[in-house]
Amino acid sequence: MKKKRILSGMRPTGKLHLGNLHGALKNWVSLQNDDGYECFYFVADWHALTSDYKDTSEIGENTIDMLVDWLSAGLDPSRSVLFLQSEVAEHAELFLVLSMITPLAWLERNPTYKEMREELADRDLSTAGFLGYPVLQAADIIMYKAYGVPVGVDQLPHIELTREIARRFNFIFREVFPVPEPLLADVPKLLGIDGRKMSKSYDNSIYLRDRGDTLYGKILAMFTDPDRKKKSDPGRPELCNVFAFHRLYSPASEVEQIEEDCRKAAIGCVECKRRLAVAVAEGMAPFHEIQDHYFNNLDEVRDILAAGTDRAREIARLTMDEVRDALKIYRINKA
Ligand code: TRP
Ligand code: SF4
Repeated sequence: MKKKRILSGMRPTGKLHLGNLHGALKNWVSLQNDDGYECFYFVADWHALTSDYKDTSEIGENTIDMLVDWLSAGLDPSRSVLFLQSEVAEHAELFLVLSMITPLAWLERNPTYKEMREELADRDLSTAGFLGYPVLQAADIIMYKAYGVPVGVDQLPHIELTREIARRFNFIFREVFPVPEPLLADVPKLLGIDGRKMSKSYDNSIYLRDRGDTLYGKILAMFTDPDRKKKSDPGRPELCNVFAFHRLYSPASEVEQIEEDCRKAAIGCVECKRRLAVAVAEGMAPFHEIQDHYFNNLDEVRDILAAGTDRAREIARLTMDEVRDALKIYRINKA
């Protein structure tokens, strides 16, 4: 049976947080560990330029930081192809070709584009590159003729655009690209320690790399059920972010007990968070071991990226060969 190809990428934001882990990475790892799939995961460093072009100084370091976190979460270079977008030149080529056939109106009406411009209002994003972000993303995806793209709901408009661009290429030239499917996973709702969305820019994140006092301190600082003011007030676990984390890190019997005790005010939030801190520290210990290994052996990280990028490039070359054929442009080295 031919394996179905999966492709996804992340912009190099540096060290990852537990929101990234439970929202995306865990799903990437389970797709990798399913023999029905062949997975390609890449660092979208060209994409980082679209919003960070004025200060690119962190993109390189962030690439390695993120890769180490991927590896610590269980992405395995012997099962998945892990690669770097900017070192597969074909992404830029296909982006150019797709730019020619993508109507501006498709890009201008993209809701993610509008939201991002509002969110990043302090930057000058009236650039061709920023508007063209989803065209580059479409190139990333269809280059590998991916069947499925695991993404979060925020990315659905981009995948829809990718599908439209693939169909348009096939219609104008010839059938080269399968139309990819978005793959949404069921993700637990986890918030940052202040109760807002977990995000690097809010300074409210628990990182895959946090350990010891840092980890403990962050968990003890977490907001709980907002209406539980005193220890004698009964709590509502379903409204408590700490409880959402317990579900992921504590054994089922303990989760049940906490739920019961919380509702009858038999456990205080401080005690509840202490137990969570112990469970998270234990759950993350294997991640920290892998991180330590790679930070002490950065050559291995580079070699993993190099091997994955070579493999990706082989496929990308085949695709661009087909694209040139479909375009019927002159080929110097082809009969
Ligand atoms: N836009 C994606 C994000 O911000 C990153 C990305 C770039 C991507 N190219 C991709 C995701 C291709 C999936 C497939 O998260
Ligand atoms: Fe949340 Fe635990 Fe406090 Fe209940 S006891 S409100 S679950 S922190």
